[in-house]
Amino acid sequence: MTSKILVTGGAGYIGSHATLALLQAGFEVVVLDNLCNSSVESLLRIEGICGKSPQFIQGDIRDRGLLDELFSSYRISAVMHFAGLKVVNESVSNPLSYYENNVAGTVTLCQAMASAGIFRLVFSSTANVYGEPAQVPVREDFPTGALTNPYGRSKFMVEQILQDLAMADSRWSIALLRYFNPVGAHSSGLIGEDPNGIPSNLLPYISQVAIGKLKQLSVYGGDYPTVDGTGVRDYIHVVDLAEGHLKALEKISTKAGVNIWNLGTGQGYSVLEMIRAFEQVSGRKVPYQIVDRRPGDIGESWADPMRAEKELGWRAKRGLQQMMADAWRWQSSNPSGYSTCLPQATPDSTKSRTN
Ligand code: UD1
Repeated sequence: MTSKILVTGGAGYIGSHATLALLQAGFEVVVLDNLCNSSVESLLRIEGICGKSPQFIQGDIRDRGLLDELFSSYRISAVMHFAGLKVVNESVSNPLSYYENNVAGTVTLCQAMASAGIFRLVFSSTANVYGEPAQVPVREDFPTGALTNPYGRSKFMVEQILQDLAMADSRWSIALLRYFNPVGAHSSGLIGEDPNGIPSNLLPYISQVAIGKLKQLSVYGGDYPTVDGTGVRDYIHVVDLAEGHLKALEKISTKAGVNIWNLGTGQGYSVLEMIRAFEQVSGRKVPYQIVDRRPGDIGESWADPMRAEKELGWRAKRGLQQMMADAWRWQSSNPSGYSTCLPQATPDSTKSRTN
């Protein structure tokens, strides 16, 4: 029988790429998404890419009744959990909504999973949990928890809750995937990142400057002890990231307890290197100005991806050129993200409900 996977937040940026990868690998997928920062259009486009679509349930991970109903209606074997809030500034001004959605929401999800007898979970964590690393590349056994904002703390708290859970009940198999900086889009240009309002992450901001929606990029800090003074990060193509999730899912079906894997490339690029690479690929100028550092930012961080390579047989394959080309294809063919689309009929297999 085909294995059915629940993907929470499956209409969002990373969730939609993971949903596509799962469908392409032959899984059946149920997407649960409250659409607070995503569009059901992404799911229609997935069908356009692979000819298959997930079941869609519009709803919230905090809704226990809905989760119980979902788990009794579908034979779910594992959950990939992407649903959550992710804007650092917003988390500083509205911490309770971050703790409610990210922490309490995950607790409710795990309670519903346990009572339905489902114990396999792949969780979207972040390299943010390492705070300012004492050295690079960053390994999974480096210290975590010295965080500067409620978003990062909410992810760190969930990591700890999941570790306690696996300690208390050996039936759980959990993957904590610590993402570095996901960028790019599917090579079809049909699905990609569609941030609400002005983007806070680098590549969506660069793309919107290139398309003329924003005037210029502020480069946060030119005085870091890095190659050119600007911040260095490990940018990873979102399709590589999605493939990492599939490998993790496969692994936890035979490996109990909590498993932590960095998902990064092992290669860092500075902000100025990113601007230059984007200009080269797009043929557009990206005007920028170096301004003060952004509070809470760190100088440099990139992954040691060896554990994932050894244990999962996974490594990122797509380089900087492809990240930029795919990001630009998505941005230039969807200048206003998913909202440019005309309303379309919902496919038969896409079921929608609100609670
Ligand atoms: C940010 C978040 C982090 C989150 C991650 C992924 C902060 C402090 N950190 O990390 O919690 O997990 O996104 O969503 O917000 N940059 C500019 N100008 C811009 C935007 C960014 O110069 O307009 C620089 C940053 O200073 C940094 C690099 O670009 O050096 C990457 O920034 P960003 O995409 O925001 O990612 P992180 O800072 O790594």
